[in-house]
Amino acid sequence: MIITPQTAELRRQLAPMRGRERIALVPTMGCLHEGHLSLIRKARRLADTVVVSIYVNPLQFGPNEDLDSYPRTFEADAALCETEDVDIIFHPQNLYADGPPPVSLCVAGLDRCLCGTARPGHFDGVATVVAILFNIVQPDLAVFGEKDWQQLTIIRRMTEGLYMPLEIVAGDTVREADGLAMSSRNRYLNPAERRRATGLYRALSAMQKLAKAGETCCATLVAHGRERLAAQDIEAEYLDIRDAWSLEPVANLSGNRSARALVAARIGRARLIDNVPMPHASAPVNHTEPEEVSR
Ligand code: PAF
Repeated sequence: MIITPQTAELRRQLAPMRGRERIALVPTMGCLHEGHLSLIRKARRLADTVVVSIYVNPLQFGPNEDLDSYPRTFEADAALCETEDVDIIFHPQNLYADGPPPVSLCVAGLDRCLCGTARPGHFDGVATVVAILFNIVQPDLAVFGEKDWQQLTIIRRMTEGLYMPLEIVAGDTVREADGLAMSSRNRYLNPAERRRATGLYRALSAMQKLAKAGETCCATLVAHGRERLAAQDIEAEYLDIRDAWSLEPVANLSGNRSARALVAARIGRARLIDNVPMPHASAPVNHTEPEEVSR
């Protein structure tokens, strides 16, 4: 496995593979967990060469967010990548050594809801760094987790809208045994907060279950989810049902559009997010009770 902080070295290593082998990129901010590893494994199955980027991108953190305290665990991350047969770790020290890029991306509209409301500028920062990483690595495909559904959607739409020549592949959310979605920020939770945090997936699962039983009114489904959150003393930043592609609000579930239920909440000092697909009468999704979820 090659580890390099240098763009020129990365490109030199990739040059012989271009056009002959499929190159996959898994962009990360490090602090790797099973969720990331499942993305790496997916990349491994789909490509010949797997590049993992590890870079805590300052552009996507707001002034009062956790940029300075964001966990940096490079040695452990590199060991995990080695076990997963990663070919190259790209670990730049600073992609903006000369200051913020003179031209950056601005996400139009898709960031004016959900996480974008509480984190102004966040998705502009994500889109800009992801475009930079795509330009540096020039992968055939890149893998992103469904846990960050709004990010995944924005990246899919960016890639399509800007005619970027690569495929975006989505990886399933990986959950702890009690349903909590894996996240680098889960390590901020103390034991009591960790127990409360399971309320997010419980609320989403309850909404799925009610929809599967035939309820199609999204206001009713959201009210049901809110009750479940309140039972765990969780006040959501948002709990909503949105169109899976446009992120527009959905009033009623129908067989014509695919919808997602999405939630964000602060628990202790962690801001956690999660989402699930919503079933509709003609295409139910399998419901798994949180207690039964396996890794
Ligand atoms: O999901 C993340 O870890 C980050 O937002 C990403 C995509 C690596 C960009 O910094």
